[in-house]
Amino acid sequence: MTPQANRPFFVVVKPLVFLMSLLPLAWIGWLAWQGELGANPVETLSHRTGDWSLRFLLLTLAVTPVRRWTGWNRLQQFRRMLGLFAFFYVSLHFAVYLIFDQFFDWTAIVADVIKRPYITVGFAAFLLLIPLAITSTHGMMRRLGRNWQRVHRLVYLIAVLGVLHYAWLVKADLTEPLLYGGALAVLLGYRLWWRLTR
Ligand code: HEM
Repeated sequence: MTPQANRPFFVVVKPLVFLMSLLPLAWIGWLAWQGELGANPVETLSHRTGDWSLRFLLLTLAVTPVRRWTGWNRLQQFRRMLGLFAFFYVSLHFAVYLIFDQFFDWTAIVADVIKRPYITVGFAAFLLLIPLAITSTHGMMRRLGRNWQRVHRLVYLIAVLGVLHYAWLVKADLTEPLLYGGALAVLLGYRLWWRLTR
């Protein structure tokens, strides 16, 4: 593909996907601005940012299977952006917890991480995402060589922890965590099938 043929893709499609990925944040901001975050705004913020963290994680994992399925190889170029948006929304999710839930009380946070299993699992997933975000640049990819892929396989574990975190925190209706879990099982199952058959 010539650089000229690639131009519309870089000038139009990539910025469009970038802007679309910011829509959930814009929507949350709009609701906050309108005072429509419900009776418990902190809980609403936590839920919305948590939902989008998981959705972006799953979208990131969907890129490779959809690319292989459709043969649309350029799709691969969205993977890093979507992964970084997953990290962005998890960071917001954690910021809501840190600022509005725990008021920067690090002792209380450590106690919470130890005491509540769903916080332990969510926190572990967040920590594991940090090295992936740091090493997501082309320079790091080159520097780490084959180890880059090994490190980035952590995303499978992170997604499992994300779903577990959600399943653990819901009190009654498990429908949504099960739907996310089902989608993740399909995405991971596909990868296993691909490895075994090739
Ligand atoms: C990859 C990391 C994470 C993912 C994918 C994730 C995802 C989610 C999801 C999907 C929800 C439920 C949203 C809903 O009910 O609609 C949630 C809720 C929540 N998460 Fe996370 N989370 C992550 C990390 C964390 C971390 C690091 C913390 C704090 C240390 C945290 C604290 C919470 C809290 C307090 C809630 C709300 C619980 C409630 O209202 O009962 N999460 N998260």
